[in-house]
Amino acid sequence: LGHLNPVYMPEGGLRAAPTSASSSKKPKVAVLGAAGGIGQPLALLLKGSNLVGELSLYDIVGTEGVAADLSHIDSSVKVSSATGADKLGEALYDCDLVVIPAGVPRKPGMTRDDLFNINAGIVANLCAGIAKYCPGAWVAIISNPVNSTVPIAAEVFKKAGTYDPRKLLGVTKLDVLRANTFVAEAIGKAPESVSVPVIGGHAGVTILPLLSQTTPRVEVSADKAKALTERIQDAGTEVVKAKAGKGSATLSMAYAAAKFAESCLLALQGQSVVECAYVESHLTDLPFFASQVRLGRSGVEEYLPLGSFNELETKNFGALKSELRGSIQKGVDFVHKS
Ligand code: NAD
Ligand code: LMR
Repeated sequence: LGHLNPVYMPEGGLRAAPTSASSSKKPKVAVLGAAGGIGQPLALLLKGSNLVGELSLYDIVGTEGVAADLSHIDSSVKVSSATGADKLGEALYDCDLVVIPAGVPRKPGMTRDDLFNINAGIVANLCAGIAKYCPGAWVAIISNPVNSTVPIAAEVFKKAGTYDPRKLLGVTKLDVLRANTFVAEAIGKAPESVSVPVIGGHAGVTILPLLSQTTPRVEVSADKAKALTERIQDAGTEVVKAKAGKGSATLSMAYAAAKFAESCLLALQGQSVVECAYVESHLTDLPFFASQVRLGRSGVEEYLPLGSFNELETKNFGALKSELRGSIQKGVDFVHKS
């Protein structure tokens, strides 16, 4: 028998059940914040994924409507829904992967850190639920500010005694999609053929695309590289401005999150998959850092080396450190002061 997890019983109480590692059922994936701008298209994409067994939709409002709608799609993915804090255990029961896009998005003029006061508590509460009801699950965090919400989740799991750093992943894949798209545009190639590693964190200058490590290799002038880097760093703000008060990126984020979730599910099956993610890391002197990681059955199994930086990347790497360190500490302090 593998590791035993305590799991939720609708009638109350906990019993031990085998984790998915020891069973052959298709994975159960929860989306927390499922009725939101990201949650809905993410749920739609996961309902169409043949890697998912059950899709558990959770929100504090509007979940049943989303679930009823999706449940008419003729895919084999079972859809369940739960609404409100007292149903969180039901939503998380026996989950293998929990994706969290719950929380408020930016409006024009705001930084991601301006969301901290609301989203920190939301993420901490949801993670306390994960620690209680599905402590062995992989957790993918989308809620901003990611640079702080991932350290918050880590501290909540540490307090609960369930922390496994290999299975806690901040989702930075949208930065990679953007980098691939913008670089492809600049060099006249198909976006699908371009791959840019993006490291650091997920806010402004902490987003560091490594254009010098693009595959296939690209030659652009220093000025063009600087402009491309700044566009990738400001891409979230570009969408916030375009939406003019109606939120931030939802569709591109849902696409990125669905791809990321599928990578996690392939890794759970034992495949080796490389993704950029914001994780606990020893690659730099920062305790959390986004980089390319190799995912396998037990989560992050290898940190790919950062490689060498050119002059611009070296300068940008120096510039990101103090902001990222401060955001990490802010998340850690939040859990210890609350
Ligand atoms: P949204 O307001 O449209 O949806 C958020 C959903 O979360 C709502 O349905 C809301 O009811 C729900 N919610 C609020 N509190 C909750 C709780 N305690 N439990 C469960 N659900 C709760 O926002 P959105 O556009 O979907 O964005 C969600 C978050 O994702 C924001 O913080 C945003 O900044 C972030 N985001 C991150 C990235 C990234 O690259 N990581 C990209 C885009 C957006
Ligand atoms: C993004 O990068 O699109 C998200 O982090 C949302 C935002 O606030 O920019």
